[in-house]
Amino acid sequence: MEITKAIIPVAGKGTRFLPATKETPKEMLPILNIPMIQYVVEEAVDSGIKEIIFVTSSGKESIENYFDINKELEVFLKNVGKEELYKQINKIGLLVSVQTVRQKEQLGLGHAVLMGKSFINKGESFAVLLGDDIIINSNPVTKQLVEVSKKYNNSSVIGVMNVPKEKTSKYGIVAGKEVADKTLHMEKMVEKPKPEDAPTTLATPGRYILNQEIFAILEEIPRGAGGEYQLTDAINLLAQRGEVYAYEFEGKRYDTGSLEGYLSATIDFALEREDLKDFAKEYIINKAKEL
Ligand code: G1P
Repeated sequence: MEITKAIIPVAGKGTRFLPATKETPKEMLPILNIPMIQYVVEEAVDSGIKEIIFVTSSGKESIENYFDINKELEVFLKNVGKEELYKQINKIGLLVSVQTVRQKEQLGLGHAVLMGKSFINKGESFAVLLGDDIIINSNPVTKQLVEVSKKYNNSSVIGVMNVPKEKTSKYGIVAGKEVADKTLHMEKMVEKPKPEDAPTTLATPGRYILNQEIFAILEEIPRGAGGEYQLTDAINLLAQRGEVYAYEFEGKRYDTGSLEGYLSATIDFALEREDLKDFAKEYIINKAKEL
């Protein structure tokens, strides 16, 4: 069975980006002129996803509007002869089919993913992408995970990366037995362990392929770290009862949920873009001389 649906939780308050997030969802903050969420949605679409389920909260309406057609703007751009911009805007509206479901209380990532339950059929696998991370690679990360899932009988697969030991308490950390290059058969997953308690330094930045059976587990788990319903705890149980794999993906990852990661992505993306790279390079070199 093909993996064609992705759940993207976007209900968070975005406190690290206040005051900008007082009235604007953090997912809509742009890196250059593209909202952060678009990079994540494009990763999903380039990985074969046809339907996105956004788990939202109040004040997040602009995200679903963004991925809809804006006829008025399109007509305006055509009338003023801005053909290229028209095409760009039209393409965003047609990119993917969008569904939304409200998470009325923010009770954790596990609770957010559970809100997507009714959109996923029995036996179906789906992707989960967290919007705080942008991961760039010519073969999109979610696609890499889909390929691993297919290889192992449509099992659940968690994307992981190596992090410095002192950073384990920021992530879900996995441990398991290596079964192929960069691939682990998962034995356990722990949410945000202290460095001294972390079984490994393999952390997930929020890229998952999960089977529909995760929902029954999400309904059963108690609150975990931070008093929240943790997706990590459900995946840990799933690994005890069935097959879960972890895959060390290839790609450059930006933690765009932090100001440092946001700044790094902004600089790198400008240096990559044909229309900006010469300006960006010259500006950075000149600025560095002043420092
Ligand atoms: C969540 C997950 C954690 C994961 C992280 C990636 O935590 O609970 O397992 O490693 O996202 O960003 P949060 O950062 O939302 O606290």
